[in-house]
Amino acid sequence: MAQNIIVQVGQCGSQIGCRFWDLALREHASLMSSTDPKKCIYDASLSAFFRNVDENKNTSLSYPSPIRTLKARAVLVDMEEGVLRSILASPLRDLFDGEQFIRDVSGAGNNWAVGNRFYGEKYRQILSDEIRRQAEQCDSLQSFMLIHSMGGGTGSGLGTFILSLLDEMYPKVCRIVTPIYPSKDDDVITSPYNSVLATRVLTEHADCVLPVDNDSLIDIVSRCDSSTKKNDNGRCPFDSMNTIVANLILNLTSSSRFDGPLNVDLSEIPMNLVPYPRLHYLISSQIPAPFKMTTNSSIPRNINQIFRDALSPHFQTLRVRPQIDGIYIACGMILRSKTIQMSDIRRNIDLLKLKHMKFVKWNEDGWKVGLCIVPPNGLPYSLLTLANHTCIKETFSELKERFTILYRRKAHVHHYTDHMELGDFEQARENLNQLIEEYKNIEQTNELLDTTENKNSSIATTNIPRLNVLS
Ligand code: GTP
Ligand code: MG
Repeated sequence: MAQNIIVQVGQCGSQIGCRFWDLALREHASLMSSTDPKKCIYDASLSAFFRNVDENKNTSLSYPSPIRTLKARAVLVDMEEGVLRSILASPLRDLFDGEQFIRDVSGAGNNWAVGNRFYGEKYRQILSDEIRRQAEQCDSLQSFMLIHSMGGGTGSGLGTFILSLLDEMYPKVCRIVTPIYPSKDDDVITSPYNSVLATRVLTEHADCVLPVDNDSLIDIVSRCDSSTKKNDNGRCPFDSMNTIVANLILNLTSSSRFDGPLNVDLSEIPMNLVPYPRLHYLISSQIPAPFKMTTNSSIPRNINQIFRDALSPHFQTLRVRPQIDGIYIACGMILRSKTIQMSDIRRNIDLLKLKHMKFVKWNEDGWKVGLCIVPPNGLPYSLLTLANHTCIKETFSELKERFTILYRRKAHVHHYTDHMELGDFEQARENLNQLIEEYKNIEQTNELLDTTENKNSSIATTNIPRLNVLS
């Protein structure tokens, strides 16, 4: 099995990253506790995201007890100290060594330019050295997975700086990003600027992006878990929202961590679901809604229902409507279950294609399916859907609107131009316009193909009787 490195940047990236490590350790520990203790050795499954520091390759993993033998394949970056310091006080503290933490004290002040231009240059060498050190500890490096917010300065700015650095240093290694887009009533006023500036870099340097927006996470938490208490400010707690994103990464990487009859390597995802390099944004949804509190009654038992639910907007991590707007360019499904058979999957996918999903004409078989035989910890199964769908242009249009409201008045722009050119704003806006147009083009070309095909088929059917009459 190949190895992968997680790069978690800024407050949001660090918090989600640590939730991922916590859940991954629980998953591996629970599997180990169910096997023969003599077999508790460091194996390919663990090596996908952890390196071993025990000479005898023993791994008695009983997390959350202290972790003695494993280190995470990770780089943790934040320009404020608070979150990284709290990791050092948590059960995860032994999972990282000191060099894996790259930090400053004052933060990027919610400013993409400070994160990208100022801290990017200041920490370029240290970042490159640590990334190289992690990469050199892998036998076969498969992917970098980057997690960061799009609203804050460190996440959006330094996060995307690191993405371009990874492209420069390891152009052949797959780069998958999970960026967290801000909610519409986010308290970071400059978040539309940060998000638009960062989206340009994601478009140019990522192989695959799984955008998540905080509004959808709030929707899922409120819908699925009425017991979640709101914070004092009336907001949904990040912890519950982060569990959803961490599970998304857990399910996405399940085939890289465990065996299965139909494994999907991380690098196969862009290869199969991204037919054009810029259109690499995948809309994800997960069944059942991944919660520590998921009750058995909320888990559909019928296999057909699992697949039907997979298309429900209720489980998506973006507020878009694939069943109403636009068309599928490609679609992936990653299942984790001991009992689901390939024949069940094929039957259900045929049904979805026939009745519920409209694909572009030139890629009607644009499916990628994975089956991992290790279900998520405590659940009978999970299904992660990754849709490359043109409706994502709505997300970009809304973002553009929020950006334009500020940029029309050049509000807050002076904070940015201390570190970058005004032209950077224009180019970032242009990138968004182009993305929207590229998705529209896919829809329009498909309509043309539809009409031409209909015309041809009507010509064909009207021709046949005429020929018959002539003969
Ligand atoms: P600076 O603090 O500006 O240097 O950058 P940062 O990257 O640390 O900022 P942060 O990650 O806090 O980004 C702010 C954005 O992320 C806002 O949209 C927040 O709502 C969101 N955010 C912050 N922490 C979390 C988190 O733990 N989970 C989720 N889902 N969103 C978060
Ligand atoms: Mg911060």
